[in-house]
Amino acid sequence: MTYRIATIIGSLRKDSINRRVADALIRLAPEDFEFFDVSIGDLPLYNQDDDANQADTVRRLKADVASADGVFFVTPEYNRSVPGALKNALDHGSRPYGDNSWSGIPAGVVGVSIGGTGTAIAQQHLRSVLAFFDMPIFGQPEAFIHWQDDMVGNDGVFHDRSRDFFQGWMNGFAAFVRKNAVNKA
Ligand code: FNR
Repeated sequence: MTYRIATIIGSLRKDSINRRVADALIRLAPEDFEFFDVSIGDLPLYNQDDDANQADTVRRLKADVASADGVFFVTPEYNRSVPGALKNALDHGSRPYGDNSWSGIPAGVVGVSIGGTGTAIAQQHLRSVLAFFDMPIFGQPEAFIHWQDDMVGNDGVFHDRSRDFFQGWMNGFAAFVRKNAVNKA
């Protein structure tokens, strides 16, 4: 079988370093893993009044997540938490009450920042939400990445210095998905 992994980038920025690291990591995935983007920039702001009549973009997000074998989050840290756009997507996917699209799907979390904490605090906040959703969360190695300008080359490949670490992360995440994947669709 092919494992289908929903990729969610917490940054909406065109030149996002989180996007660059996500793309470089995806290149290190096993052949039977296929990653697809779930966009969060086109979602309306979550409003509980809309639960009975969700927007098309919200229904698409929920279907994408529910059909995935895993979710791959790569996010910056904004003001010591996750970006609002990502929290908005998490809230949308969790509703209406009783129809949480995230629950049970294995998750991996990576984050890159230009600050020395490497998104550690944002990732802890995100893990707290994912645990509440009852998502199995890949634990080790943690990937609190402090961005270096030469980390990903123009060819989209990790610099030699960091490649082993990222290959180890992807190998571990893939094994975790194989062990925990459930077919919810
Ligand atoms: C930041 N940045 C940041 N960095 C960090 O390490 N901890 C933080 O709390 C914050 N807070 C923060 C708030 C806001 C509103 C912005 C715009 C930025 C800096 C952040 O790491 C940097 O902008 C990254 O380049 C963002 O990732 P992308 O968009 O390049 O993927």
